[in-house]
Amino acid sequence: MPRYYIWTVGCQMNLADSAKLAAGLERLGFEAVPLAEDADVVVLNTCAVRQGAEERAYGQLGRLKKLKQQRQGELKIAMMGCMIGMRTTELEKRFPYVDVFARPQAFDDILIALGADAGDLGGEFWPETVGEPQGPTAYVPVVHGCDKFCTYCIVPLRRGRERSRPLDEVKHEVGTLVRKGVREVTLLGQTVEAYGHDLEAGADLGDLMRALHDLPGLERIRFLTSYPPDMTDRIIAAVAELPKVCEWFSLPVQSGHDDTLETMRRGYTVAQFRAKVAQVRAAMPSVGITTDLIVGFPGETDAHFQASHDLLEELRFDKVHVAAYSPRPGTYAYKKMPDDVPEALKKERLHAVEALQERVATEINARLLGTVEPVLVEGHGEKDGRPFGRTRTGKLVHASGRAHAGDMVDVRITQTSPWSLQGEIAVPAIAR
Ligand code: SF4
Ligand code: F3S
Repeated sequence: MPRYYIWTVGCQMNLADSAKLAAGLERLGFEAVPLAEDADVVVLNTCAVRQGAEERAYGQLGRLKKLKQQRQGELKIAMMGCMIGMRTTELEKRFPYVDVFARPQAFDDILIALGADAGDLGGEFWPETVGEPQGPTAYVPVVHGCDKFCTYCIVPLRRGRERSRPLDEVKHEVGTLVRKGVREVTLLGQTVEAYGHDLEAGADLGDLMRALHDLPGLERIRFLTSYPPDMTDRIIAAVAELPKVCEWFSLPVQSGHDDTLETMRRGYTVAQFRAKVAQVRAAMPSVGITTDLIVGFPGETDAHFQASHDLLEELRFDKVHVAAYSPRPGTYAYKKMPDDVPEALKKERLHAVEALQERVATEINARLLGTVEPVLVEGHGEKDGRPFGRTRTGKLVHASGRAHAGDMVDVRITQTSPWSLQGEIAVPAIAR
């Protein structure tokens, strides 16, 4: 039985892609092994969002080159994901020992290179191929690609235009996952509210959530990533109305100044973003909102940065993913906008945001002290064996008490920090 190993870096979309590829390989008789050294086939599922992510893949490739030499060529190497563009000539020259380069979700290319027959895997995105879940939660891509073309972003160039999966296909996949023990699904899209605009049936994300809501055994539905202009009143109302849909938004702002938003080509102003946050909070007062911010974007002055800092202080997000701008070859910003903010200043801004957010998250989380939060147990800590899981608003909770992965338990919060919560299991809300 041929053995495979998949190495994954990047976002939830890549994790979902790796799970799908694993399921397909297993259907064709391949067996997973925990180490590349024991595999006949190694797949690197790569990310290109920042230089650092690419460097990690290059490190793996160096290791695999030696391994392939030791095994006298008896190792197949596949490189997949967002580092792979339309043209692979450069990569082929640089890494001649890689057997196949496959764009994100081009699973069939890998199978063809392995001499396997992809014929029975059910067409694009392998709708009939659903992997063994690794726990009670699972990621389900519902819309692939992105049409927005923000000037700094490599994703549309690598993942292509938006393509929604048919509603019935998603429902089938979620139903299968639930039968295999999944209690919570996260519906994924680069801009998840774009779901359905290209479907003939005209369904939107709210319709999809409604269709999934009645699946027995499914406890929670999450969704990410949000894109403010795509968040319609209808979708916000569906999130607010449907009890299984968690009131938690991942809503990237990227900058707090209109000049920078315009050069980023984000498609909204600060005022429009602020209004969207207000609308969501009015509909769901207990909502959790996380955001993403880039510091040191080309042309970002002290005043632009200060506006971002002020906006974070004003809107008080539950979490901020902050990154220093990193030019990505192939993007509009890379070609047309000089990377003119010194690295030291980018770092300084990054640390200023981290310090601000630490204070804000400390205050927000402290308000949860003494409350009882429903938590879906996802697993147990490696060191202390204690159950951990998340609140509806996406906060990580470590709890004392007994519970199995997949249990929904009420946890009384006894300690808070900016990063996570500690608590005691009060009453098992739903025991399996
Ligand atoms: Fe990239 Fe912008 Fe699309 Fe997000 S919305 S994936 S940042 S192009
Ligand atoms: Fe995700 Fe990285 Fe691609 S963040 S979409 S794997 S560039």
